[in-house]
Amino acid sequence: MEGTEKKILFSAVQPSGAVTIGNYIGAIRNFVGLQEDYNCFYAVADLHAITVKQEAAVLRKNTLSLMALFIACGIDPAKSILFVQSHVPAHCELTWVLNTITYPGELSRMTQFKDKSAKHAENVNMGLMDYPVLMASDILLYQTALVPVGADQKQHLELSRDLAMRFNNRYGQTFEVPEPYILKGNGARIMSLADPSRKMSKSDENPNAFITMTDDRDTIIRKCKRAVTDSGNEVRCSEDKPGVSNLIAIYNAFTGNTNEQTEREFEGKGYGDFKLAVGEAVADALAPIQSEQARLLKDKAYLDSVMKEGAGKAFRAARRTLSKVYRKVGFYSGE
Ligand code: TRP
Repeated sequence: MEGTEKKILFSAVQPSGAVTIGNYIGAIRNFVGLQEDYNCFYAVADLHAITVKQEAAVLRKNTLSLMALFIACGIDPAKSILFVQSHVPAHCELTWVLNTITYPGELSRMTQFKDKSAKHAENVNMGLMDYPVLMASDILLYQTALVPVGADQKQHLELSRDLAMRFNNRYGQTFEVPEPYILKGNGARIMSLADPSRKMSKSDENPNAFITMTDDRDTIIRKCKRAVTDSGNEVRCSEDKPGVSNLIAIYNAFTGNTNEQTEREFEGKGYGDFKLAVGEAVADALAPIQSEQARLLKDKAYLDSVMKEGAGKAFRAARRTLSKVYRKVGFYSGE
């Protein structure tokens, strides 16, 4: 029955290198809980990844490890549709059609396009510019109602909504217009350990600025010990203590503490003790995920079967929308 159907939720992560604890806390971890309340589609966005240069063998490896990481983090292929974007050709097919209702100005104005063009000046390609249209296709193909997105993807989601409405206006009701899904309470934004005014990013030149999901215990603890803190020595969350506040956010994310609990726990203790505790909490939390991911990566047959099954389900859902689109725009499909 219509009213009782779960809403559709879509998200994707690019397999472009290491996944940081920022990606985990801000995105992947939340995907797990959402599985209970929504019909979730989670994709490994390999088509998006090639908009910047990728080594073919490395991309293949990263795709498999991201799939294993999704499962190791608790995304259950029996509950969610877990697939690799390039395995479902409808993403490219819909992108072509949506391109015909997208204006170049809309794309050249995108903040991420401008940033990435500056950063990859030697490789400003059409794919980089068209990236948000592909993302709109990802979302619109599944009649997605909700998209959990961080601040850096809000503008892209806005374009997806515009394109859905534009298409619906021109051709009649075809797409659900997606809404952003605001993560409960702490959509915690994890900042760089070296410069807490910047978001933690795996593409930071300084490897001490981020912790990845595959860093070992010693590395994690070393990076936490080196994290920049602020003047004074009090473990307290406040605007004038961005470094300490960021470490508190990380600590809370892995222990479930509130700010007050953490402040109380470290009352009278200095930054040194606190940083060690943060490192240990992160390492403890990642250890079971890391061992499960390693186990899964040894079982390629299983991972292949998950991808194949996910792609099959996604394909069938996507085809329904794509056929409708093809009909609306006037593609002949026989009598
Ligand atoms: N562009 C997103 C990112 O880099 C990944 C992504 C691709 C995505 N397609 C999506 C996210 C659709 C949400 C919905 O984070």
